[in-house]
Amino acid sequence: MKGKILVTGGTGFIGSHTVVELQKAGHEVVIVDNLSNSSADVVDNIEKVSGIRPAFEKLDCTNLDAMKGLFEKHKGINAIIHFAASKAVGESVEKPLLYYRNNIVSLINLLELMPKYAVEGIVFSSSCTVYGQPDKLPVTEEAPIKKAESPYGNTKQINEEIIRDTVASGSPIKSILLRYFNPIGAHPSALLGELPLGVPCNLIPYLTQTALGLRKILNVFGGDYNTPDGSCIRDYINVVDLAKAHVFAIARIFENKQKEKVEVFNIGTGQGLSVLELIHTFEKATGVKLNYKIVDRRPGDIEQVWADPSKANNELGWKAETTIEDTLRSAWNWQKELRKRGIQ
Ligand code: UFG
Repeated sequence: MKGKILVTGGTGFIGSHTVVELQKAGHEVVIVDNLSNSSADVVDNIEKVSGIRPAFEKLDCTNLDAMKGLFEKHKGINAIIHFAASKAVGESVEKPLLYYRNNIVSLINLLELMPKYAVEGIVFSSSCTVYGQPDKLPVTEEAPIKKAESPYGNTKQINEEIIRDTVASGSPIKSILLRYFNPIGAHPSALLGELPLGVPCNLIPYLTQTALGLRKILNVFGGDYNTPDGSCIRDYINVVDLAKAHVFAIARIFENKQKEKVEVFNIGTGQGLSVLELIHTFEKATGVKLNYKIVDRRPGDIEQVWADPSKANNELGWKAETTIEDTLRSAWNWQKELRKRGIQ
């Protein structure tokens, strides 16, 4: 079934790639975004990539009246993919209330409005951060939820609980929680990608900015972890592959294939890569030498985490496909494109 999908945060990094994949699969998309961490130009670029202009509403999901207005205006929304959220771990420690308000009130508004407007399901953008440092690797969906390291991480845990409680109370909705590992890369067209404001906190934008000479040196946070080369290990998932997981989740909801009304899937490659391995792979894949040095550990970092994605592979029918080399080349091409456009 093809549906009308509301994508909150649809001009953001993962949101924009997901909009394109939904359109390619034949769905109609309505984007809502307050543009707090993205720009309206992204809608133009989505249109350039897919050939279809999605509807766009500049609204804040925490504003219940505005969201009611959106559902009145765009009648017949069948499902929601909820990305809209503040996502900087460090900032969340400094401004916890901002994070709790933005991330939690938005979800509550959507869950309240869904039954009123007969919206069947919601796909929620969760994170492997809910596992903390898992006791067993690779981590499965059965692993215990660990105490959150930051207010940001806590909002992901709380939101998962809010969805479970709402469904358990008899709300006629279904949900799929996708726990993303580390999303990286950009669209192969170099028209969509990650646009961090100011100094990037995440590895890949910092790395590509260093490769371009915008930053002097990439600091590798910690060389004395209990890992083969001493640097932290993550599961880096290509953003287009990740976007496709949402299309599978929407199909599962529409086709009534869920085994439970709330299901959870790890979205990762199943491969752990250390920071140093990632740097060397980037150098090989792009031919660009990186200036880097090992510095002290970053407080709050998990030593190592990677996914067991078998549940997503077997039940959702989704699998990561893009090689890490292609993913890193896409991130590099995007960085060069930003330079061409005079953005960075
Ligand atoms: N790192 C560096 N130098 C940098 C930036 C990062 O060495 O300049 C290292 C980090 O220490 C970590 C790895 O690169 O080992 C990845 O760091 P990121 O900041 O890119 O990603 P995180 O794994 O810390 O966090 C990401 C998302 C969060 C999410 C979390 C889930 O940013 O939103 O994954 O584990 F919650």
